[in-house]
Amino acid sequence: MDFGLSPEQRMIQESVRKFARERILPNAREWDLAQEFPRALLSDMGRLGYLGVPIPEEYGGAGLDYIAEAIVFEEIGYADSSVRTTLSVQMSLVELTLLKWGTEAQKQHFLPRLCSGEWIGSFGLTEPNAGSDAANVQTTARRDGDDWLLNGQKVWISNANLADMAIIFAQTELGSKSKGMVAFVLETMTPGYSTRKMTGKLGLRASDTGEIFMENVRVPDSARLGKVGEGFKIAMSALDNGRYGVASGCVGAAQHALDASVKYARERIAFGKPIAGFQMIQDMLAQMKVDVEAARLLVYQAGWTKNQGLVSTIPVSIAKYFAAEAGKRAADAAIQIHGGYGFSDEFVPERLWRDMRVASLYEGTSQIQKLIIGRDLTGIAAFE
Ligand code: CAA
Repeated sequence: MDFGLSPEQRMIQESVRKFARERILPNAREWDLAQEFPRALLSDMGRLGYLGVPIPEEYGGAGLDYIAEAIVFEEIGYADSSVRTTLSVQMSLVELTLLKWGTEAQKQHFLPRLCSGEWIGSFGLTEPNAGSDAANVQTTARRDGDDWLLNGQKVWISNANLADMAIIFAQTELGSKSKGMVAFVLETMTPGYSTRKMTGKLGLRASDTGEIFMENVRVPDSARLGKVGEGFKIAMSALDNGRYGVASGCVGAAQHALDASVKYARERIAFGKPIAGFQMIQDMLAQMKVDVEAARLLVYQAGWTKNQGLVSTIPVSIAKYFAAEAGKRAADAAIQIHGGYGFSDEFVPERLWRDMRVASLYEGTSQIQKLIIGRDLTGIAAFE
């Protein structure tokens, strides 16, 4: 067992940390207040290879492994979870799904554009009545000659309004649940496809979130991703990657909460000494440290599984569940340690707390992760 990083992983860690601390961190508060995603940032990230970390070089990626991918998410997540979310959707949910399920023509067409940051991608699974119950999608896909007609609505879609392309999940036969699902990869300029921005979010305010509307969106059969009936498996395998990205990002945010808290505790004087000298503060800091280390090791364990080419569903659900909850705990403790200042947007814990709240909701709630783990342990599904 080797807990060290390889020279390549170390190199990308240094490079992405420098980029995130210089280019993202100082601007994160401003982007959060403006509720706007800094689109121009993506091209720079693409140039540096951060948008296609585990994608082979022949498709414009960096050709690195899944631990390197986690490192990129951790460092970006340290600086800003909004940017990390945009990146997670692009790299984990969209690019890796195309890599696994796409035809050669689809990979050649989409992957270089996504890896370079020229294009942004989105992942259209969730609907008003299909959140945790993802197999209940009501968007329909109907054959029309050689084409397909898509009709329906998606909601809570990250990158929706910025996206140049989307992976869309639809039903060929309503009521057939996971058996009848089919996936498509399409360009968002396709007639009949429109989006609407969703505002008023508690956190992740700089990341774009929207609804997608499809009215007789005509796509050729060559836009189909995988076979008819494979859509649900494609969605679940995509989430095995997406949840890994979320977990890695939460490690970074929790580390940030810890670093900010240690710094503040050493500087803040109360009762004539730095508050870092109080046992109850050290108790909170130690708990945060244990959470961060445990979450990172669980992420690396899941990444190791992926690097071996093994099915990663369970290690990923364990890492996602733990890291999301650890991130929330760490952000909350950081507010407590900062006292009244922690409640102000002048200090970072407030944004971390708001941004971490969604981590146990999106890409599968903490409850869903526990049910996936529970089914694996018992052989009995609790969600049927
Ligand atoms: N990889 C490949 N195939 C898989 C799989 C995986 N990880 N998990 C399940 N499957 C396959 C199963 O083998 C099964 O295949 P067969 O029919 O051939 O046996 C089929 O898919 C159905 O599987 P289940 O019985 O597990 O399906 P289910 O309907 O009971 O689903 C669930 C269970 C785990 C609750 C699932 O619905 C789920 O994960 N829900 C949460 C959805 C979610 O995470 N949504 C997040 C949306 S994306 C998002 O947030 C994006 C964003 O923009 C930020």
